[in-house]
Amino acid sequence: MRILSGIQPSGKLHIGNYFGMMKPAIELQEQGEAYLFIANYHAMTTVQDADALRAMTTDVALDFLACGIDPEKTAFYRQSDVPEVHELAWLLSTLCPMGLLERCHSYKDKIARGIAASHGLFAYPVLMAADILAVNSNVVPVGRDQKQHVEVTRDLAIRFNNAFGEVFTIPEPSIRENVAVVPGVDGQKMSKSYDNTIEIFNEGKPLKKRVMKILTDSKEMEDPKDPETCNVFALYTLLATEEEQTALAERYRAGGMGYGHAKTELLDKINEHFAPMRDKRRELAENMDYVEDVLRQGAGKASALARETLGKARKAVGLE
Ligand code: ADP
Ligand code: TRP
Repeated sequence: MRILSGIQPSGKLHIGNYFGMMKPAIELQEQGEAYLFIANYHAMTTVQDADALRAMTTDVALDFLACGIDPEKTAFYRQSDVPEVHELAWLLSTLCPMGLLERCHSYKDKIARGIAASHGLFAYPVLMAADILAVNSNVVPVGRDQKQHVEVTRDLAIRFNNAFGEVFTIPEPSIRENVAVVPGVDGQKMSKSYDNTIEIFNEGKPLKKRVMKILTDSKEMEDPKDPETCNVFALYTLLATEEEQTALAERYRAGGMGYGHAKTELLDKINEHFAPMRDKRRELAENMDYVEDVLRQGAGKASALARETLGKARKAVGLE
């Protein structure tokens, strides 16, 4: 089974990204032949600053390697190191009905948020289809917001195969339905757009300040408290064992424990969980030649597959 997913380089990663997207991606490398790429072509639809794009691409590479992407198991690469996807995107776009793209929620949402309606933004799902079909991926793990794009991919692959013969594998989306929404320090969904995140590579005093800011109700120290409705406890459950969760829940219900204490327990857990990754990230950042090597090797593996697929597609349509 071949599994492929892409992530846009888009700023500092937070605990919501970690549990919602990174951890599942890292676990998938145990389940098949994994391909994971940094979607820097896609990011150009929203990031128009060369230094920022470069810096964010490097950040994502370091973040994912530090959190457990194993280059022996996953071909990890920059999208721009596999330019074959553009030719494939063109072949697909010639049989992509306008209506299919006009119906995409993600495009409409982005425009509603004030992002300029460029051709790139509109054609984004066709490039995404090319990413997926280039390596003949069977499974595409994505968040719910990307499901429609995988459906567009399936539609395009079927149209192409019907018109020109069997060239593409029809991929299945694998939607992370069971991943809970991680709350931010204000209790809303944690998101960089809401300035409510806890960043995974933040540490020391700034991290402590952030954790102490988590919104709670105004119960007094001695009052019994409800763990089920508490943001601090919700974050704690992501990081603590069942026994630890039960123990803290009992202390909530018994009263006599202030939220400050629960926050300190949470902070300890965050530090315990992410400390090894922070160390690894520092080590990797000192070793950019190694990181570059990993990305190049990953790109080599993906390019070899992409060239093969593109060769078949070019013949099928009559370019060769
Ligand atoms: P943000 O909302 O911070 O801009 P993105 O939209 O870039 O994050 O999301 C990147 C990935 O992280 C997506 O797969 C998304 O499902 C996941 N993700 C983001 N925030 C959360 C959250 N609070 N809880 C669970 N998953 C999340
Ligand atoms: N559009 C995806 C996102 O914003 C990123 C992406 C680009 C992707 N190409 C892909 C994901 C191919 C899966 C497969 O999250």
